[in-house]
Amino acid sequence: MEKREKLSIEDLDLQGKRLFIRVDFNVPLNAAREVVDDTRIRAALPTIRYACERGAKVILASHLGRPKGEPDPQYSLRPVSAHLAALLGRGVQMADDCIGEQVQEQVARLQPGEVLLLENLRFHPGETKNDPGFARALASLADLYVNDAFGAAHRAHASIVGITHYLPLAAAGFLLRKEIEYLGKVLYNPEKPFTIILGGAKVSDKIGIITRLLPQVDTLLIGGGMAYTFLRVQGMAVGQSLVELEKQDQAAQILAEAEQQGVKILLPRDHVIAQRIETGAPHRVVEGGAIPDGWMGLDIGPQTVEAFSAVIAQSRMLFWNGPMGVFEVEPFDQGTVAIGRAVGEAAALSIVGGGDTVAAVHKAGVADRIDHISTGGGAALEFLEGKELPGIAALTDKSS
Ligand code: 3PG
Repeated sequence: MEKREKLSIEDLDLQGKRLFIRVDFNVPLNAAREVVDDTRIRAALPTIRYACERGAKVILASHLGRPKGEPDPQYSLRPVSAHLAALLGRGVQMADDCIGEQVQEQVARLQPGEVLLLENLRFHPGETKNDPGFARALASLADLYVNDAFGAAHRAHASIVGITHYLPLAAAGFLLRKEIEYLGKVLYNPEKPFTIILGGAKVSDKIGIITRLLPQVDTLLIGGGMAYTFLRVQGMAVGQSLVELEKQDQAAQILAEAEQQGVKILLPRDHVIAQRIETGAPHRVVEGGAIPDGWMGLDIGPQTVEAFSAVIAQSRMLFWNGPMGVFEVEPFDQGTVAIGRAVGEAAALSIVGGGDTVAAVHKAGVADRIDHISTGGGAALEFLEGKELPGIAALTDKSS
């Protein structure tokens, strides 16, 4: 259980100290190398601002994309430093590397309250290998360590785990703490009635969290491609819809366990179907399980939206991960947007995670009505499966 209390940035004396903050600035860039979604950068601002105000010499480090362990301009963090400077309203210095003599000199010149962003950590193979030599080189830049990179906390990499062995204190930033607080509530202490809304293409991605969360959930709403494996298990005709044949046994087991435990599982009762996944492809709505051969379910239909929305409105806590249809292709985004609206309008405590789901709440115009939008994709799923994340485990215990 993720129960041991970890040191927080507020427990550190930062004045004049070189503070290494691991952030997750792995953000999407467009062809012009501009940041197109800065959610993760904004989410790290409270920690960065706090560190500056407390007189730390702030060293920020992140990965971006998956370069092959060597410098690759396509994955430079330089565009992120410009974007960060605009958001922070103060200068952000940029380093050409993340270790080495030149970086040491740049750090030595830093004044309290100044910010230096290191170049992509994954330009060195030692980062993903959690190489001790590389971790020591990173640690030599700093006096203290803070992790605010929740999105990468499931990676046992050098800047996340190894580095903590070479610095005296390793603490959680505000974003990491907030993620643990909200996702911890889903895992250990949900308000009831508690509804989980799951979607996305594959049931295999979600089996871990369904199994872990089934004992504390009241109603599970399932949409998206993953619903068709369940519907097929129930004997419905699903046409050419996405079905993971090898996961049918597990889906059947989940349905049986839910029944035993008194958990309601609602599956789509109508579908928007088409023969091709293409913008504007001819489509129609079918009710029940009757998806004809050659057609596939690409979104939940209006009756399902209504049924799901009614459950959502009556919940006291909601967790949503995964779109209800092929959200990136219009018009198959409608069900997801409608569920986004229902979640935004609900009085319940709402927690949303996953890239597409976050995009959906933005598209539905309700992002500011969601209590917590998680910055973690894989990290959030692993946390909710009950796994101990290496990036959290590596932090200093409060009592020690
Ligand atoms: C993410 O985008 O989920 C995190 O930044 C982790 O990135 P990775 O999957 O490349 O390790």
